Amino acid sequence: MNVLIIGSGGREHALAWKIKQSPVLGKLHCIPGSAAIAGLASCPEIRQDDHDGIYGYCLANAVDLVVVGPEAPLAKGLPDFLAAKGIKVFGPSQRGAMLEASKQFAKEFMRRNDIPTADFTPLYSAAAARERIAANRRYPVVIKADGLAAGKGVRVCADEAEALAAVEDFMEKRIFGGSGSKVIMEEFLTGPEVSVMALTDGESAMLLPVSRDHKRLKDGDKGPNTGGMGAICPVPLPEEDMETIRTAVIRRFLDGLKRERIPYRGVIYAGLMLTPDGPKVLEFNVRFGDPETQAIMPVIKSDLLPALCACAEGRLAGRELDLTGETCVAVVAAAAGYPESPVTGRPITGLYDQPAGVQVFHSGTSSKDGGYFTSGGRVLCVSACAADAALARGKAYEAMRGIRFEGMQYRGDIGL
Ligand code: AMP
Ligand code: GLY
Repeated sequence: MNVLIIGSGGREHALAWKIKQSPVLGKLHCIPGSAAIAGLASCPEIRQDDHDGIYGYCLANAVDLVVVGPEAPLAKGLPDFLAAKGIKVFGPSQRGAMLEASKQFAKEFMRRNDIPTADFTPLYSAAAARERIAANRRYPVVIKADGLAAGKGVRVCADEAEALAAVEDFMEKRIFGGSGSKVIMEEFLTGPEVSVMALTDGESAMLLPVSRDHKRLKDGDKGPNTGGMGAICPVPLPEEDMETIRTAVIRRFLDGLKRERIPYRGVIYAGLMLTPDGPKVLEFNVRFGDPETQAIMPVIKSDLLPALCACAEGRLAGRELDLTGETCVAVVAAAAGYPESPVTGRPITGLYDQPAGVQVFHSGTSSKDGGYFTSGGRVLCVSACAADAALARGKAYEAMRGIRFEGMQYRGDIGL
């Protein structure tokens, strides 16, 4: 089977690494891919928003399955376009992608389908938002930009001044462009967070092992929010919480898709908070998490490719996934200045000769004259597997200490 992955980041590097191990894989391709992914797949020079170019490439290379990594091509409807032309795609429809592209759509979908989530009010103008804030007596309160904002469009506001500042930034200064034309004001929840992903063909779902992302830049969950500074997988949860996740989140999500006739063949990611009242959904993403994927792929023992293919073909029912039984700790190394203004172009040393069970997945690197250079905010992710979390952490940090680039920043407490 020939497979084309869409994307270029650490998540796609991890997907490519896993799919490459499949005994049923023929040729692996990746658009646009990256210098690191080019070690595993052919990466033609086609843009990921060039739908015709991608379709032509699929025909020319007898691609049997397209796996879409990032949210942007999903929100732009690449799966709908390819599926209409008879190409099998792992990735939800454009309407399905609205669950990530619009917080309001997601919240109203959850409300309609009785999926546990924080109370919320959509606000359509800065004036309406100010009025609502003036009437609010409970802090903290959460303000979210409606549209895509690379994981940065959420502010937990401790008081009225912070709430007003969020409204000004999102709705007037438009720091996330059109994504801030609407905002959601949301009840503040407390509790530990976990990421739950499930593969689905729109009828059945296959839960992936639960993981946890660390979103703040600094140790102890301090500093600004980022795309994610590291992850651990699996995270053991009480059976009671797992049951709520299966029945009140995933089952109701699938029932909602059917009721609302939303085609969905791909992965659903629920960002959950384990509140004193049980698990509640903070957000849906319509793709694999990054960096969660870099921690999940190494602990999956089964061949992933047949499962991805079964999703795309609508025949997932009855499949199961075997895990290795190990724990994976994935630590992200970010560039100096990340997340505000990352410095790029710094040479990276120490990437080679990692011990067994350690993988380095590249998020933002490029290669020149046989060496790797930093080219993005999140640069790479060291994923280490071992019998337990403490051993995996030790292994990940030992590997990380051998890798160097100027201004490198990483957290010391991933998986703790
Ligand atoms: P989101 O992108 O919606 O997952 O939000 C990013 C982060 O903001 C989450 O991982 C939480 O830490 C925090 N957050 C989002 N919504 C809430 C909420 N309703 N209550 C408390 N914290 C929240
Ligand atoms: N790690 C969070 C995300 O992928 O959205």
